[in-house]
Amino acid sequence: MIINKLKKFIGVEINDLDITKILDIGIINEISELLSEFSVVVIRDQNITNDQHIKFSEFFGNLEQTKVGTDGSGSKLIILRNFDEDGNIVSPNDRQRLNNLANKEWHSDSSFKKIPSKLSILSAKMIPSNGGDTEFLSMRAAYNSLPENLKLNIEDKVCWHDYSHGRLKIDPNLVTSEEKKALPPVKQKLVLNNKKYGKSLYLGAHCSKIDGMTENESQNLLKEIYEFVDNKSFVYSHIWKPYDLIMWDNRSVLHRATPIKGKIEKRLMVRTTIAGETSTLND
Ligand SMILES: [Fe+2]
Repeated sequence: MIINKLKKFIGVEINDLDITKILDIGIINEISELLSEFSVVVIRDQNITNDQHIKFSEFFGNLEQTKVGTDGSGSKLIILRNFDEDGNIVSPNDRQRLNNLANKEWHSDSSFKKIPSKLSILSAKMIPSNGGDTEFLSMRAAYNSLPENLKLNIEDKVCWHDYSHGRLKIDPNLVTSEEKKALPPVKQKLVLNNKKYGKSLYLGAHCSKIDGMTENESQNLLKEIYEFVDNKSFVYSHIWKPYDLIMWDNRSVLHRATPIKGKIEKRLMVRTTIAGETSTLND
């Protein structure tokens, strides 16, 4: 495979692979290794069907079932779009648009699950001509930038992650009672450890509080950490081309969508999510 690095800490691009014609498991192992080391892998020119997307994804592990209340619920695909069944762009207060707003906050997919996801694989079907980029933030680079005393302070901290937390700030009715019931808050370690490539921070929009601290103490410590996380040099910003396929390691990057600029044009993405194998509490 011909591999180009995209940014110092994060991201590689593969230009000469057809994911529908993988005959050698060595290729899958190579991609897994790239994900471990560089967190984000961009594979260009993959005009694939949903079945081909699922088949490729299953090389990397079991797929999560799409949760209640999300487009694609009960299947292995998440459909991310800003238009309705008739092809009309949905109104700004539509649930789909509000959920898209939530995706504009830094987050890790499924960090609200007891065993959160390992990878996400996102395929671009329709992209707007201006804006709508996806940004990825290396939480390993962020961890490495922390002063030693802060690293020591957070080493064994555990955070609560709650699906409702970020969404309720956008709209108090955005999370349904069915979703709340299906997704109770869970605990995750704040510092994760990839044995080969080192430690990373595990935070994002679903993280509501540090366990065992008062609300104030927790907010102050999170604020202190985020001052180091908020650093452009750790971010790879992806400008989508049609049929790009992006894979990322949810345990070492955060990601977010950026707004579409100018006239709102249709955007359609399809995602699979590879289930994690272990709780972060064992990390
Ligand atoms: Fe996401």
